[in-house]
Amino acid sequence: MTPFFGLSLLALGQVALASQDAFQTKCAHFANKVNIPDVKVNFAEYIPGGTNLSLSDNAPSCGASSQSVAVDLCRVAMAVNTSGSSEITLEAWFPREYTGRFLSTGNGGLSGCIQYYDLAYTAQLGFATVGANNGHNGTSGEPFYRHPEVIRDFAYRSVHTGVVIGKELTKKFYDEGFKKSYYLGCSTGGRQGWKSVQKYPNDFDGVVAGAPAINFANLISWSAHFYSITGPSSSDTYLTPAEWNIVHEEINRQCDTIDGAKDGLIEDPTLCYPIFETLMCAPKASNTTSCLTSAQVQTVNKVFAPFYGINGTLLYPRMQPGSENYAAYIMYNGEPFTYSQDWFRYVVYNNPSWNGTSFNLKDAAAALAQNPYNIQTFEGDLSPFQKSGGKVLHYHGMQDQLISSEDSKLYYSHVSDTMKLPPSELDEFYRFFTVSGMSHCGLGDGAAGIGQGSGTYAGSDPEDNVLMAMVKWVEEGVAPETIRGSKFADGVGTKVEYRRKHCRYPRRNVHVGPGNYTDENSWQCI
Ligand SMILES: *[C@@H]1O[C@H](CO)[C@@H](O)[C@H](O)[C@H]1NC(C)=O
Ligand SMILES: *[C@@H]1O[C@H](CO)[C@@H](O)[C@H](O)[C@H]1NC(C)=O
Ligand SMILES: *[C@@H]1O[C@H](CO)[C@@H](O)[C@H](O)[C@H]1NC(C)=O
Ligand SMILES: *[C@@H]1O[C@H](CO)[C@@H](O)[C@H](O)[C@H]1NC(C)=O
Ligand SMILES: *[C@@H]1O[C@H](CO)[C@@H](O)[C@H](O)[C@H]1NC(C)=O
Ligand SMILES: *[C@@H]1O[C@H](CO)[C@@H](O)[C@H](O)[C@H]1NC(C)=O
Ligand SMILES: *[C@@H]1O[C@H](CO)[C@@H](O)[C@H](O)[C@H]1NC(C)=O
Repeated sequence: MTPFFGLSLLALGQVALASQDAFQTKCAHFANKVNIPDVKVNFAEYIPGGTNLSLSDNAPSCGASSQSVAVDLCRVAMAVNTSGSSEITLEAWFPREYTGRFLSTGNGGLSGCIQYYDLAYTAQLGFATVGANNGHNGTSGEPFYRHPEVIRDFAYRSVHTGVVIGKELTKKFYDEGFKKSYYLGCSTGGRQGWKSVQKYPNDFDGVVAGAPAINFANLISWSAHFYSITGPSSSDTYLTPAEWNIVHEEINRQCDTIDGAKDGLIEDPTLCYPIFETLMCAPKASNTTSCLTSAQVQTVNKVFAPFYGINGTLLYPRMQPGSENYAAYIMYNGEPFTYSQDWFRYVVYNNPSWNGTSFNLKDAAAALAQNPYNIQTFEGDLSPFQKSGGKVLHYHGMQDQLISSEDSKLYYSHVSDTMKLPPSELDEFYRFFTVSGMSHCGLGDGAAGIGQGSGTYAGSDPEDNVLMAMVKWVEEGVAPETIRGSKFADGVGTKVEYRRKHCRYPRRNVHVGPGNYTDENSWQCI
């Protein structure tokens, strides 16, 4: 090579560098490098950190028309055929500052919505991350109607397909490939995480599954049955949110100090069986603002009862006490629960005019008997996952208003019984954390910021971050003993009022002093 030639190449390189660095160039050319059957790359686009990304294609019901992106990354958007009549929309986000870790995100409810906030969050933490739309767009269950392949995508295939393709793309994008693979999801995302553990034991080295919608068919029926208890808001069996607050205060009066602290939080709801007759108005009471009618007391008793099927088998455990002020606005609001109604309309009965007001136990039996593609996600034998060396971290908020944390406890026992492993042995690969003061996947009244998403972020120290705790477990073999949550004064990112270490089930948190309940070191897992 002549010096002259070398010089001109150098000059060319400098011109290119001025407008585009190697990472940007790689991103710009990446679409052409992808040649995978059933995969169509719509675009690969460089997104500089600090961009407020417009998501104009996102279905309006998903409620996200923009996403702020903190770090430089390459955004790859694809369509992937999952059968002759179904497809997923898949995105892979490859950050410039890459830690060598692959991750899949999940979904929520019956959606249909790529969780862009989780892509942004995990890319910021250095993961090559993927998210799929679960086989349909938007939050409604209508796309399931007479379309079993779309139901199959929702039950298990969307996440698995995204993982298989996402891993291949990650290896193509980064010369070093990836060294470990992770999953992060909550609610339906928690169920998807468990589905991977149960059905695809080699997909992930570490799975973080929160508040999982497992025991799914029965969850759908349990959610539907609250309307049959409360009736519409005009009914004498209905309670207003203000009346549910009276119930909440009575629950705290009877149960708050069982854990040793009067902090408005119930550490272990399984020890709390309140007597609600204490709330009944005296027959001649003149002031009834802080008492309930006997019909309302009956409603409260039924809401907190386990849910039994037509022949007396337990379908779903009771709602845990503590979540009333949240549940009042959704589960007990005097309207049929939308997701349940959609599921019966478009999956169980193929009848778009089926009305959630008519729900009864025969419907619950039909939903369970159908269990399409084993969407129940309640397998007790995890030995293939255990043998593969995988780790799973399960958490559930003790103020969850949508999915009872008691169902997570039921599943834990089911795994323990099926595998004949006591908790000390399960802890080797499966740890379950109960998080007081956490509502459904998010913040509640207590120290619920455990870094399960950007909305609960309290730093990336493994002690404070459930995902980084999983990374430490997988890569260093150091399993989390506790998960520390932060209580924010006024929403995430604001001043931390106090922290609390949440216990690994079946231990429970007890306030032993000598400090205040706000002192994390005054608590003990026993
Ligand atoms: C996906 O399937 C559709 C319909 O069968 C077909 O037209 C399209 O070419 C397929 N796309 C890919 C990338 O295979
Ligand atoms: C991003 O843009 C949207 C639409 O223009 C706007 O509503 C939103 O507030 C912006 N977000 C940030 C963080 O600037
Ligand atoms: C979902 O929306 C995307 C973006 O608008 C579109 O490309 C895709 O075809 C849609 N998927 C389905 C199953 O309708
Ligand atoms: C009725 O009781 C409530 C709560 O105990 C109290 O705030 C209110 O002042 C009372 N109303 C009357 C008319 O006494
Ligand atoms: C469902 O039934 C209720 C009670 O009969 C009725 O008020 C409501 O309009 C019905 N809803 C639909 C969507 O048909
Ligand atoms: C009772 O119902 C459950 C759930 O529908 C079913 O699995 C079980 O076989 C039934 N048992 C009997 C004795 O009918
Ligand atoms: C404990 O801390 C709370 C919140 O800071 C405070 O309101 C309460 O008075 C404290 N209790 C004791 C016994 O110090």
